Amino acid sequence: MALSKKPYKGSRDFFPSEMRIRDYLFSQMRKTAHSFAYEAYDGPLLEEVKLYKAKSGEELINEQIYDFTDRGERHVAIRPEMTPTLARMVASVHRQTAKPLRWYAIPNLMRYEKPQRGRVREHWQFNVDIFGAPPVLGEVEILSLIVHFFKNLKADQTMFSILVNDRKIVDAIFNELLQLKDDEAYKLYKVIDKAKKVDDAALDKMISDILADDKKSVFKNYLALSNHLELLEFLKSHKLSDQAQEFMKIMENCEQLGLLPYIQYDPTIVRGLDYYTGLVFEIFDLNPENRRAIAGGGAYASLMKIFDEPELPGIGFGLGDVTLKDFLETHKLLPDLAHASNDLFLCHTEDQELIATQKLALVLREQGLKVELNLGKMKFNKIFKTAESKGHQYVAIVEEKDGHVQVQIKNLPTREAKFFQLSDISEIQNFIKDK
Ligand code: HAM
Repeated sequence: MALSKKPYKGSRDFFPSEMRIRDYLFSQMRKTAHSFAYEAYDGPLLEEVKLYKAKSGEELINEQIYDFTDRGERHVAIRPEMTPTLARMVASVHRQTAKPLRWYAIPNLMRYEKPQRGRVREHWQFNVDIFGAPPVLGEVEILSLIVHFFKNLKADQTMFSILVNDRKIVDAIFNELLQLKDDEAYKLYKVIDKAKKVDDAALDKMISDILADDKKSVFKNYLALSNHLELLEFLKSHKLSDQAQEFMKIMENCEQLGLLPYIQYDPTIVRGLDYYTGLVFEIFDLNPENRRAIAGGGAYASLMKIFDEPELPGIGFGLGDVTLKDFLETHKLLPDLAHASNDLFLCHTEDQELIATQKLALVLREQGLKVELNLGKMKFNKIFKTAESKGHQYVAIVEEKDGHVQVQIKNLPTREAKFFQLSDISEIQNFIKDK
């Protein structure tokens, strides 16, 4: 039987048309990271499973990792997320590195999930993290970097929202107000994480399985909070407002910087990964067509501990390429990437011009132009149609005129045409640069 031409389930082939989009997304990610002075890093595709077991959480380990035992009896996994690798790398250099550390990466990750809109098995994730920042300021920088990223993509506050919460606050409500035991609190975290993904009856049932009626009503009041000011009132009424001080300062600073229109307090945001200890957030498309989070992140204070290193607080996020592309397509924010972006289609019509044409292509490329050379002579009546179908704006035809070889360059949209000597390289460049 013939082999299938399809890629492995949940993974994607990137043909040039998809690769142009991916390159565009990655270039926007790098541009944002660089404008905030974050530096690129990368790590290995495989890590020992115990690295993920230490902090990532049960769902990732039990249901989603691609793991195997290597020839040396090591239990390894293809990276399902980047944060544990990042923490391991930071742990090995942070003592001798100036703080804060500002790092970013765009790794491919694999998770065994049911492929559906916004979910695949191999995705690329823009990771941006800062380590060793003073309290509040690192959180605010990460939130403002996110807003800057979306603004660069021409997205506005009607299109996306950063939903925020704080694990310290949720912990205080669980421990001090609801007096939950550790295992009950852990289960309730998982319930909140699923609160928006299930209907009211299912949610009610999940809560009733963990909480008695009196605690259930307090918990439901918590889930009904709709902004950070209501949260503050709720906490004050239960004498818990101390635990919200840092969170409120983050919100205040965001307000002063004009970021608040993009940010919304949401009690159901707690994050599925176990290592978060402070601010947590997820970014959602406000168009209901895209229900999956575009990004998720938060602050984690104790990841260094697993390497026996002194604590160094980190804050960051991961933003998926699939969900970002869905978002940009839904809001018609992707630029026209139907064609490759070359500068010039270069051809000749008579065999004797072959070498002159090839040489001209080499010289123009040395000047930094992206030149598509037609291989072999071309019939005159095919040239413009071919160049247009490939998305070129300029066509150059090497031909004999008035007894010597010249190059005619035509601007296809304006129909403007000009003849140049083959040695007029800077004039040719200027004609094309004018576009
Ligand atoms: P996460 O919430 O697991 O966080 O993933 C972050 C984002 O990656 C998601 O919001 C989504 O856009 C994308 N993503 C995750 N899984 C898939 C999938 N199966 N298919 C398509 N896209 C997916 C983390 O991974 C944290 N390590 C992020 C982080 C960095 N926190 C602090 N620093």
